[in-house]
Amino acid sequence: MSVPKIKLNNGSEIPAIGLGTWQSKPEEVAAAVAHALKEGYRHIDCAWGYGNEKDVGEGIRQSGVPRSDIFITSKLWSTYHSRVEECLDQTLSNLGVDYLDLYLVHWPVPMNPKGNHPVFPLLPNGKRDVDHSWKLSQTWEQMEDVLKKGKVKAIGVSNFSVKKLEEILPTANIVPAVDQLEIHPYNPQHELLAYLCSKDIVPQAYSPLGSSGSPLLKDDVIQAIAQRLSLQPADVLLGWLGAKQIVALPKSVTPARITSNLHGAVAGAKKLSKEDIETIDGLATSGKQQRFIMPPWPVDLGFDNWPDKVV
Ligand SMILES: NC(=O)c1ccc[n+]([C@@H]2O[C@H](COP(=O)([O-])OP(=O)(O)OC[C@H]3O[C@@H](n4cnc5c(N)ncnc54)[C@H](OP(=O)(O)O)[C@@H]3O)[C@@H](O)[C@H]2O)c1
Repeated sequence: MSVPKIKLNNGSEIPAIGLGTWQSKPEEVAAAVAHALKEGYRHIDCAWGYGNEKDVGEGIRQSGVPRSDIFITSKLWSTYHSRVEECLDQTLSNLGVDYLDLYLVHWPVPMNPKGNHPVFPLLPNGKRDVDHSWKLSQTWEQMEDVLKKGKVKAIGVSNFSVKKLEEILPTANIVPAVDQLEIHPYNPQHELLAYLCSKDIVPQAYSPLGSSGSPLLKDDVIQAIAQRLSLQPADVLLGWLGAKQIVALPKSVTPARITSNLHGAVAGAKKLSKEDIETIDGLATSGKQQRFIMPPWPVDLGFDNWPDKVV
């Protein structure tokens, strides 16, 4: 099946549905990626920090789908903000590819590259060891360099609020192509999406189903819309994103769900009416606002609805 695409500000196109790979166990993810590509996915969302890129690469090779037909995204880990090319080279080698279609700054939080752990360095007080001397604009300069070298075709950010975007935009030569964020009906981030639209930055939705153990699939409004339109609740959640031109990144290692998420996302975007979309848009403000992904970064990320106790 052909998957709808969304145009990026560098002129290229990104498939509007991509397979997520966070928390996919190394022994499961190769089969999941191979299955997804055989079923028609052409977009895989990876990250150095997920620790499974070698197995994702194995799945890409097993699928038999040519590299040039696949849109591959990966992300710079926080202990590498001052060593962008080094982290990227590891990702390229892990995946077994010689370029990425999109490279993202995973979190707007540089961590100490010489701390007590290579991935999650901690201070004696147990808090994450943040490198307060490193500026995000310096990270972005290095992201622009790897783009110029041709190692990646587009660059973007993830988990950047307006406050964090405004730390890089004044000196950026290249505007980020995307901002990958937690977006679902319980955390729709309407104001941030309007800001991204004004800057020609495409939003990507992570945890589009509400991540593992999600209450979203059991939401009474989502279930009622699904039943009326002969869709699964997941199709409604993914279709809502598609209808709003937001890239959706559902994760699954279950073959039947991998397949149904792709077909359901496309069907959902077609079947949802303007009224359905407005109803879903209003769920968070009706009292259901909830974030599911709140790592304990000891800095203010500038997001709405990020509880103080996590900072
Ligand atoms: N940039 C970031 O900081 C960031 C943060 C979080 C996530 N992400 C990206 O976004 C992707 C998706 O987010 P996520 O993994 O948090 O969560 P998600 O895609 O919202 O949900 C994944 C969970 O839903 C289950 N599932 C999948 N399809 C289903 C269906 N049709 N019906 C019922 N359950 C279903 C999966 O189970 P099974 O796998 O067992 O089928 C898994 O437990 C990640 O994998 C990653 O690539 C990025």
